[in-house]
Amino acid sequence: MTGKPIVAIDGPAAAGKGTLARRLAAELGLPYLDTGLLYRAAGRRVLDTGGDPADPTVAEAAARSLLPSDLNRNDLRGPLADAAAASVASIPAVRAALLAFQRDFAERDGAVLDGRDIGTVIFPDAVAKLFVTASLTERARRRWQELRTAGMDAEIATVETDMRQRDAKDAARTAAPLRPAADAYRLDTSDLDAEAAFRSAIAFVRGRIGPR
Ligand code: DC
Repeated sequence: MTGKPIVAIDGPAAAGKGTLARRLAAELGLPYLDTGLLYRAAGRRVLDTGGDPADPTVAEAAARSLLPSDLNRNDLRGPLADAAAASVASIPAVRAALLAFQRDFAERDGAVLDGRDIGTVIFPDAVAKLFVTASLTERARRRWQELRTAGMDAEIATVETDMRQRDAKDAARTAAPLRPAADAYRLDTSDLDAEAAFRSAIAFVRGRIGPR
């Protein structure tokens, strides 16, 4: 294919999407956007003002006033940011406010984007769609490891419980629930290391977009 390829990568938390998406983008020479950061930054903006991330009016205003520099904040990870992001992400007006940001990002040069609704809502015509999953136990283990590496104290059982609740919230919400696009390539990374996941994904994407 010619033009600006858009590669959509969706799936639940800690399935390996980010690592994979970043590497695919580097390999293909495409810009990369971690769309979870948009919801995290919007949630943080609400917390900054002492507001409730579940309040649609406040959350929409935060999403509309988001600046690219908000994505570089160093407080977008951790349980508080996780919960605030999940709350704002379930509000339709927030999702609508962040749609243009995501489309504009990929407009000029194409992109690799990872999130929950990239292949279903944001770019339903993306040339290549992947749905990346792993078992809950494995995803919780990976997230726990990340938190520890970042110097945060965490119990693996708590991480798993939080993750189960957040998965349920992402899948149950009426606004863009997490689900695979019908034409997505499904990649279960439970038993794959990052290298094996990359090889499987790049073979699929190259098959879709052809040589670049
Ligand atoms: O991928 P993440 O954990 O950084 O995402 C943070 C939250 O935002 C999570 O609750 C899922 C939600 N999200 C979303 O609803 N849609 C996206 N495209 C990306 C993230």
